[in-house]
Amino acid sequence: MASPRVLSGIQPTADSFHLGNYLGAVRQYVSMQEGYDAFYCVVDLHAITVDYQPEALRRRSRVAAAQLFAAGLDPERSTVFIQSHVREHTELAWILICLTGMGEAGRMTQFKDKSARYGETSAGVGLFTYPILQAADILLYQANKVPVGADQKQHLELTRDLAQRFNHRFGETFTLPEPHIVKGVEKITDLQDPTAKMSKSSSSPGGILDLLEQPGPLRKKVMRAVTDTGTEILFDEENKPGIANLLRIQSALTGTPIPELEARYAGQGYGTFKKDVAEAVTETFTPIRERTEKLLADEAALDKMLAAGAAKARAVAAETMEKVRERAGF
Ligand code: ADP
Ligand code: NA
Repeated sequence: MASPRVLSGIQPTADSFHLGNYLGAVRQYVSMQEGYDAFYCVVDLHAITVDYQPEALRRRSRVAAAQLFAAGLDPERSTVFIQSHVREHTELAWILICLTGMGEAGRMTQFKDKSARYGETSAGVGLFTYPILQAADILLYQANKVPVGADQKQHLELTRDLAQRFNHRFGETFTLPEPHIVKGVEKITDLQDPTAKMSKSSSSPGGILDLLEQPGPLRKKVMRAVTDTGTEILFDEENKPGIANLLRIQSALTGTPIPELEARYAGQGYGTFKKDVAEAVTETFTPIRERTEKLLADEAALDKMLAAGAAKARAVAAETMEKVRERAGF
């Protein structure tokens, strides 16, 4: 039997992925190569739902793809591509938009959160239809599984509803995707504000660890991570969110369970512990940064990898769209 197909998209909205993206998404992508027919998509079309600069978008899409390869995605085993290279995404999105109710789209809580930043009337329509483009991404490839965190469950439900609606009205066409709940991925928080999620939209650069940063600045940020005034290394989310975050990071990077770390650092103070966290971060990031730099230095080779990924993706997408067009009356 063929391996189940998995699809995931990641936005190129910053110049580098950060530790949260790495642990929460990229590293999972790499491990899902085993046992899944994996499609990974740098979703540049999603990135234009908020303000952006064309040159920056083009650069960031390439850097994002290079980081995915550098982190261990093997183009022989996974299909890695840039969303806009496969035109079928926008075509299917339009057809699905026409099947979506205003009320249904309006219930998406992520739109409510994101549009609040702009004010309801100046948020773009693209931001409103974002989950429908996401549905197109998934359905085009007939994905069986979609890795989802809590904030994406609602979008996957919409995707399933749209697939069922299309199938019901026009004939069986789309596979209904199931959520793939990723285990062992916990939210990494901001080093300067350990109650907020580490995010590229963070206001304090000292709070995020970028995959492409040099060891010096990475170490400095870890050593300056906000903790409490105590000395004990204990996992206490409520009273010691900074230490809890560092324990999560160290556990995820070294594969050591948190209780074992607590025992190991008992009575040692924060300095020693932070030094080890900094070491684990730089040891993980450095080879990925170096491979990313190498990939970006040979533009023609990267173009070729991306063209090959897009061709593989397009073959599947085109097959789906042929059915869709035929059934939907085109
Ligand atoms: P950001 O918040 O930086 O904009 P995205 O929302 O684009 O990140 O998330 C891209 C992927 O990275 C998603 O799969 C998301 O779950 C994961 N991710 C982002 N931030 C974190 C974090 N702080 N901890 C764990 N996973 C994260
Ligand atoms: Na996201």
